[in-house]
Amino acid sequence: MPWAYDGDVGRFPIRRVTSVGPDIARMVVDAPRVAAHAHPGQFVIVRATSNGERIPLTISHWARDIGSIELVVQAVGRTTRDLVGMRPGDALADVLGPLGRPTEIDSFGTVAVVAGGVGAAIALPVAYALAAVGNDVVGVLGARSSEHLILVPEFSEACAVVHLVTEDGSSGRRGLVTDELSDLITRTTVDRVFTVGPIAMMRAVAEVTRPVPIPTVASLNPIMVDGTGMCGGCRVNVAGVQRFACVDGPEFDAHAVDFDGLEARNRAYRRFEECQLALTGVQDG
Ligand code: FAD
Ligand code: FES
Ligand code: MG
Repeated sequence: MPWAYDGDVGRFPIRRVTSVGPDIARMVVDAPRVAAHAHPGQFVIVRATSNGERIPLTISHWARDIGSIELVVQAVGRTTRDLVGMRPGDALADVLGPLGRPTEIDSFGTVAVVAGGVGAAIALPVAYALAAVGNDVVGVLGARSSEHLILVPEFSEACAVVHLVTEDGSSGRRGLVTDELSDLITRTTVDRVFTVGPIAMMRAVAEVTRPVPIPTVASLNPIMVDGTGMCGGCRVNVAGVQRFACVDGPEFDAHAVDFDGLEARNRAYRRFEECQLALTGVQDG
């Protein structure tokens, strides 16, 4: 079975919640059927409450033996804020997955895994899997400041070397991940790049590797609703063809993605999203 819906169970107990950064929570959730089938690069569609909206979250870790999965959630709006506020003993209403195509894991040689912000949680299982089949994995982790750099010890375990970059210089190099990546590809051979993070960052990474060229895969974050190819909400233009990120992706050739289109579609409901937050009287951070 490619994916599992534990709908008859209905609720998914949260076992552990830890804060890994400002408004960023790492939660361990019981979801045995999802854990049994999960692979790097895949995600779940979650409803925090039975009347809540559906949102996609990457499976950042799973333990098949105890039937749990790990989600890392950054509060950016109403639903993620509700999720970050949940505590052990609470339960998620729905967890549907694993969804999406797993990351292509092969012996590529040297692979740079370039992640921004909460993208580190999405990249971590990919870095582990690439290293497990013998690649030299170089991590490049970027964030606004040191407190927003997450999962650094885990990345150091998965990668041969990790370069940290912060915009304010509070940790590692001051600048952007593309500064580090540009230097990396001039001093060593990089056979492949995997990138995940804000759209502007992934577009910039693709522009660094395009002229060389280095095959570059980006994990995209379009708006998703059903996650199974039915609503069309997640459509992205790749090499001039409309693809559904939930079933054809979420990873695509970064050199062929229409990042401008992706950005415009992700902004389309911002006014309504702001209203949702205002209605609860909660201020966005
Ligand atoms: P809102 O205020 O409703 O929206 C804020 C912004 O989030 C929007 O402007 C839009 O750009 C985006 N967004 C809103 N609704 C959706 C939606 N249904 N689907 C996708 N994006 C949406 N975030 C994490 O913190 N951790 C993860 O591991 C993670 N994995 C993801 C994996 C995939 C495949 C995708 C597509 C997205 C992932 N995201 C992840 C992003 C996360 O889904 C959004 O931040 C979340 O849906 C925002 O919901 P909200 O109600 O809190 O914010
Ligand atoms: Fe509905 Fe992809 S989320 S088609
Ligand atoms: Mg929302």
